[in-house]
Amino acid sequence: MSLLDIILTRRSVSSKDMCEPGPSPEQLQTLLRAAHRVPDHGKIGPWRFVIFQGDARAAFGRELAAIYQAENPDAPEKALELQKSLLLRAPLVIAVISTAGPHVKVPEWEQVLSAGAACQNILIAAHTMGFGAQWLTEWYSYNDKVKNLLNMEPHHRVAGFIYIGSFAEKPEERVRPSLEERVSYWGQ
Ligand SMILES: Cc1cc2nc3c(=O)[nH]c(=O)nc-3n(C[C@H](O)[C@H](O)[C@H](O)COP(=O)(O)O)c2cc1C
Repeated sequence: MSLLDIILTRRSVSSKDMCEPGPSPEQLQTLLRAAHRVPDHGKIGPWRFVIFQGDARAAFGRELAAIYQAENPDAPEKALELQKSLLLRAPLVIAVISTAGPHVKVPEWEQVLSAGAACQNILIAAHTMGFGAQWLTEWYSYNDKVKNLLNMEPHHRVAGFIYIGSFAEKPEERVRPSLEERVSYWGQ
């Protein structure tokens, strides 16, 4: 498939449908280079990437479960086990962190958009390699204690956790918002 075909047919593969193998170390480097190769007004590089693979996924899950339990003291054991297993759904997870902040020239909004572009580049690059990928935020992207775990400063924000892995079945197409309703030709 051409890159254009991949973009035009891309579908997220649900993280729960992912399996081993994940990207090789070389493929991971390629994914990171793709993420890094995004438009970036002012050459600020307003993003960083945190990699979760192997045992680190379970270790992070245990931290998530502890935070979840502290904030939901009545949570049943089943819910805690779920938090522990979140990152184990995929062989590789890349957290994309927006480090956007005030800048003399570049609006913060544009820096945030650049982090979104990094997420999309990872998705496209992963699909190009034949992997499934899904951009998730879930609750832990918006939790201050999780931000500490990721060494984020208060103004940093998680753009997404990109789950990447192999998959058995191609996902079905989904209904898309109408393109026609979202396009206008100015002046006509
Ligand atoms: C910033 C962002 C955060 C998202 N977070 C979630 C999420 O937490 N849970 C979820 O089910 N889908 C989430 N999605 C949607 C999926 O990534 C995916 O786009 C959606 O399932 C539609 O599938 P498609 O990518 O094949 O169109 C998010 C998408 C974006 C852009």
